[in-house]
Amino acid sequence: ILAKQNFRGAYHVSPQVNWMNDPNGMVYFEGEYHLFYQHNPFGDTHGPMYWGHVVSKDLITWEERDIALLPDEHGVIFSGSAVVDWENTTGLFPAGPGLVAIFTHHLEIQGSHPIQRQSLAYSMDKGKTWVKYAGNPVLAHETFVDFRDPKVFWHKETNRWVMIIACGQTVCLYHSSNLIDWTLGSEFGDGIGSHDGVWECPDLFPLAIDGDESNTKWVMLVSIGADPAFVEGSRTQYFTGDFDGVVFTPDAASEVVRWVDHGRDNYAGVTWSDIPESDGRRLMISWMSNWHYANQTPTEGFRGAMTIVREMSLELREGIVTLVQKPVAELELIRKPIVALQDATINETSQALQRLELVSYEIQAELSTNYSSGFMIRTGAANGTIVGFDATSCSVYVDRTKSGEIGFHPLFSGIQAAKVVTSTSGESIDLRVFVDSASVEVFANKGQAVITDLIYPDPDAVGISYFTDNANEPLASLSIYELVPDTK
Ligand code: FRU
Repeated sequence: ILAKQNFRGAYHVSPQVNWMNDPNGMVYFEGEYHLFYQHNPFGDTHGPMYWGHVVSKDLITWEERDIALLPDEHGVIFSGSAVVDWENTTGLFPAGPGLVAIFTHHLEIQGSHPIQRQSLAYSMDKGKTWVKYAGNPVLAHETFVDFRDPKVFWHKETNRWVMIIACGQTVCLYHSSNLIDWTLGSEFGDGIGSHDGVWECPDLFPLAIDGDESNTKWVMLVSIGADPAFVEGSRTQYFTGDFDGVVFTPDAASEVVRWVDHGRDNYAGVTWSDIPESDGRRLMISWMSNWHYANQTPTEGFRGAMTIVREMSLELREGIVTLVQKPVAELELIRKPIVALQDATINETSQALQRLELVSYEIQAELSTNYSSGFMIRTGAANGTIVGFDATSCSVYVDRTKSGEIGFHPLFSGIQAAKVVTSTSGESIDLRVFVDSASVEVFANKGQAVITDLIYPDPDAVGISYFTDNANEPLASLSIYELVPDTK
């Protein structure tokens, strides 16, 4: 049995040493997926922020690169995005396309509130080295104290760049022809959505509904920070609507607050820029923690990890345009089949699971919606995490009250549930559960309900079991795959 050290995930991004929070600057360029991240190179808590950098060819295995962005006279480096300047709109790339990072410079001022302004850095060697733009900062605001996390994308229809940026309790939409000079187009968020915390890390992108490219809607993601008044802590909401390059108009469904994830540990997620049209996917990654307890989680030597990469789509579910998430397909390439059962009795199921000892794996199951059932994962002598379906409330849930180490913060222990729409799913509900050294990510009802939760089980808590309140009905289907990334 491989007892993994320090709760480091086998197929989740985490820093070799020290602290990680938000994913930043995700961009695809010349065969490489870039992922930068909020990083404190001096310790394992939040501190002076730099951009750490990892690179992947397959979204599963990542190679750590040199730190990309360092603090300077304008402040430390907070969250932001990166794009490929294909047409040399900036004038910085006479010799061919390169990368531009657009980020927040956060400047601490003695005796006053910090100043947050937006700046640029660029790379002419595929992200290896970065040069700060000489005219930084390029965007300031006179009144917003919280003015950060710019996400920039090319808006085809108006032939210019658009920036969505968090402004306290709203987002602002700016546009630009060169990434340097920005014009305010509109502000969104007053009187709509959750305001349980400061608005952070927004994103805005179009998606086809049910794959029909002639029928698209825009999705806006807005993360909201942890306020001590709300047990949920930091989490991410989304809106759907229309966007004309200047104004975002939410649709009726957006009058209700909708969450990207129903667990506690999915925050600051935004999507990749410049995924080739031939691929066409909208890929998201999030920080897998919660500001309530992020600085106290019981890892050693490093702290912080990302979720698995998820493919985002829009589907009409019960007449409502709904954001749906699927684990990125590349994860299927590292599967090692362990269990495959069809219509198995409870006895057969129990026997198949009895001797398993797994840390990093995927469960794929079809559960009946007529009764409650589920799995206990990462079980040890005295504990385990429950991933189940509750027939009474029609919801999937993760119970981490006995998941292992829970005492490091009073708000860590708990049960997170997500209602599952059943009228479209019929008699059964599909679950995909991604388990790793310190996390569980549940995708239910074909990606409609997602729960992402950190867990800190004993390294030897490696058992799995199945439970049901109807022992007469067989389990429709169950597959278990160990997930073994190729790390050579
Ligand atoms: C979100 C956030 C951002 C900010 C960064 C600082 O988690 O607070 O708003 O840019 O983290 O590390």
